[in-house]
This record gives sequence, C-alpha cells and structure tokens, in this order.
Amino acid sequence: MAVRVSVRLTPAVGRVPAGGTVVAVDVLRATSVLTVALAHGAGPIVAAATPDEAMALRACHPGALVCGERDGRRLPGFDLGNSPFEYGPAVGAGRTLVFASTNGSQALRAAVGARRVLPGAFVNATAVLEAVGRDEEIVVICAGKLGDFSLEDAAMAGWLAERLAARGARLDRAAALVRDLAPRDAGDVRRLVQGCAHGRYLRSLGPDYSRDVEFCAGLDTVGRAFVL
Ligand code: MLT
Repeated sequence: MAVRVSVRLTPAVGRVPAGGTVVAVDVLRATSVLTVALAHGAGPIVAAATPDEAMALRACHPGALVCGERDGRRLPGFDLGNSPFEYGPAVGAGRTLVFASTNGSQALRAAVGARRVLPGAFVNATAVLEAVGRDEEIVVICAGKLGDFSLEDAAMAGWLAERLAARGARLDRAAALVRDLAPRDAGDVRRLVQGCAHGRYLRSLGPDYSRDVEFCAGLDTVGRAFVL
C-alpha cells in the first residue's frame, strides 16, 4: 500500500489516525530541544498544556525536571527553559521531562493516540525521514505559533513531504502545498530559520537565544530520531 502523508499546519486539526505515525515539528525550538535532550539520555517526555499543569505533573513524576517556556523565556520555578544548550548529558540523562512550551507541547498533545510519535526538526531531519519512511500513514503536525502558521515548521514539513513523495508517497493537499516551501540544502535551511519571524524574535532576546536559533538552523546536526 502506498505511503500516505498528511500535514497539519497547526495542532488544532482533529484526531490523528490510531495506526499512524506522527512527526511533531516545532523547529524553534521545542522539537529541536527535545531531540537534543533525548540524544543525551533524557526521557520519557510528558507534554503539559500549561505551566500550571506542568508544575502539578511534577508531583506525579518524582524526580522529573519541569521544562519549558513562555515568550521564549524559562518560567519561574521551572528547572529548565527551552534552549538546546540546557539539555546536556549531565542534566537530563535518565530524567523524566515534564515539558510545557507554548506551541511545541500542543503539537505533542495533538499526537495522542498515534501508534508512534517522533519529534522532528531540521537538526534530525534525515534521521526522522529514515525512521518513518516505510510507515503507511504519516501525519506531520506543525506546532505553529499560537494557532497560526509558522514558516519554519511548514518548511520542515515540506522538506519531509518532498522526500517522501520522491519515494512514491501520496501527499494530501496541505503536504503538497508545503512541499513547495522545502529548503533545498543546508544553506537554505539556515537562511529560512534565521530569517523567519520567530527566529528574529528569539534573536532579539539576546546572544544566548541567537545561539539557539543558529543551532536549530543546522541541518542534520543531531543525526538521530526518537520515538516518544
Ligand atoms: C514553542 O513551543 O512555541 C517554542 O518552542 C517557543 C520557544 O521556545 O521559542
């Protein structure tokens, strides 16, 4: 049976197919960050809808780290924010992460019920492609920004859609649309992520955030994919 690929530009759209594979995408920065955290041995990931829910969930997960952001900044009382550079091997290894980012967490929560859920970003794009390429039903859920379109997430979805279509996958209308946004190479990825609205906002917060954007703009710099 041909592989079917569908794209959701925001998490708001309906339930996912029970037997499907979801790639949750929040390039700046949640799924880039979670990929780094998982690569350094953190997990499992518990996606919280709000900061208050995250704090409440800490009690249910002894030893968990409460992580995330609002407006890009770490929240008071949280153990970690949403910078990939906070999630080194000495920090999260073996620890459950209760994760409450503004949009990325909503994409993860929208994937509930799928057979497999993988965080996808440019930093692990090829690894994700190889991990899902033979699944029959692939749904790419873009985190977007507060319910609106996010160029960097749509472009990542397009990058996957283009390569899956080249392998014979059938694309739904949204996947066919974002396919045209697919960056051609690492230079395109970097220019798109650096130049998008959220990238410019994060850079305006200071040099640490600029370093985050530069990291998240790297293609395949973390060559591993993870199933949540
Ligand atoms: C999000 O979830 O919207 C982003 O990850 C926010 C951020 O960290 O900049």
